[in-house]
Amino acid sequence: MRIVVVGQGAREHAFARNLSERHEVIVTPGNAGMRADVEVSSLEAGRLDPDLVVIGPEAPLVDGLADRLAASGINVLGPSAAGAQLEGSKAFLKQLCAEAKVPTAAFGVATSLQEGLELFDRFGPPYVIKTDGLAAGKGVLVTSDRAEAEEDLAAKLAGISFGAAGTRVVIEEGMQGRELSVFALCNGRDFVLLPAARDYKRLGDGDQGPNTGGMGSISPVGDVNATVLEEVGSSMIGPTLDRLTALGIEYRGILYAGVMLTASGPKLVEYNVRFGDPEAEVVLPRITGGLAEALLAAARGEHIPSLRVSDQSAITVVLAAAGYPEDPKRGAPISGIEAARSLEGVLVFGAGVAGRGGQSQDGEAPDGQTSNRQGSVRDGELVTAGGRVLAVTGLGDTLAQARSRAYRGVELIDFDGLQYRRDIGS
Ligand code: AMP
Ligand code: GLY
Repeated sequence: MRIVVVGQGAREHAFARNLSERHEVIVTPGNAGMRADVEVSSLEAGRLDPDLVVIGPEAPLVDGLADRLAASGINVLGPSAAGAQLEGSKAFLKQLCAEAKVPTAAFGVATSLQEGLELFDRFGPPYVIKTDGLAAGKGVLVTSDRAEAEEDLAAKLAGISFGAAGTRVVIEEGMQGRELSVFALCNGRDFVLLPAARDYKRLGDGDQGPNTGGMGSISPVGDVNATVLEEVGSSMIGPTLDRLTALGIEYRGILYAGVMLTASGPKLVEYNVRFGDPEAEVVLPRITGGLAEALLAAARGEHIPSLRVSDQSAITVVLAAAGYPEDPKRGAPISGIEAARSLEGVLVFGAGVAGRGGQSQDGEAPDGQTSNRQGSVRDGELVTAGGRVLAVTGLGDTLAQARSRAYRGVELIDFDGLQYRRDIGS
């Protein structure tokens, strides 16, 4: 089977690496850091003659890429634009949760300062203010400081902080508890749960510092048992698919539930309409068989065959650029990737990386449109080109072994201003 993966981060690299063990895989547009393992292309997915297209990020889904590909008869894993509203509009999400009786925080929608202030009074602190539209994971403020909440509300509604995405906001009741990322592979009516993971969202050790796209992840999650996962399936994923079906939306793709384990049971924080990043970099390496077949069946709306999941543990440490998350520094040469890749139980996934100048900048071959995989990475050949630069995954029989392998890999890699958390999985 020829599988095309759409996207350019470590998540797409993790998909491609797994799928390429038994299938031909091309990533578009990909990044230069993937080329050690897989082919990349600058051609659009539909032009690569795929048997299956897997769409990684949310933006093309919200923009209707799955609809366009499906309309030309291509099997595509990823929801339609209508289904992608679960992530593209927090107001749509919360309304659907209310209709489907999915357990989640109480909420209200505000488009004016007065409506917002009334909701602050109704729910009390901590104040939770979310942009309705997509904001690259940065549109949420949780604070107990009323003045800060009011300032954030005003900046969002005025379009100052997040443009049009913020001129409508969702304000929620605050919840408390540990968080969990749960992934369901859906074929429109039914779903199978994939291994769950935990994401480390804050920049610094001990969960200090600003929120990021995710600085690390672990799977499995030791303090979460099968009962919790079943409850997420039966109280959240199932009713959500049923409600979508009632709205005429057949959801075929990954549904990622961000869940908070509160004192009164698991509650939904949000849905994403794609795999998590960096969760994909721990979950996908643990799937040791049947991934392509399961994705294809889901894309076709057919019964999803079972996956083989290893009982190994995985941990991912994200290597971020100097200045991340506010203003990541680009162009710093990277060394040590090949040395890390050659360690037992260590995988290195490329994210915000580019080739050093010239034709290999984004993996595009000078003459054709697809560049062959290159097998290895020389020191200094890649430079930083984004906030989250690389994701280093360690696999082991225990979390402790996975952890020591991941950090051994991390310590071999270097670039100017490199930042990473030392406490992932500890
Ligand atoms: P979201 O983008 O909706 O996942 O929100 C980002 C982060 O904000 C979540 O991972 C939570 O840590 C936090 N958060 C979101 N909603 C709430 C809530 N209702 N109560 C407490 N924390 C929340
Ligand atoms: N790890 C959080 C996300 O993918 O949204």
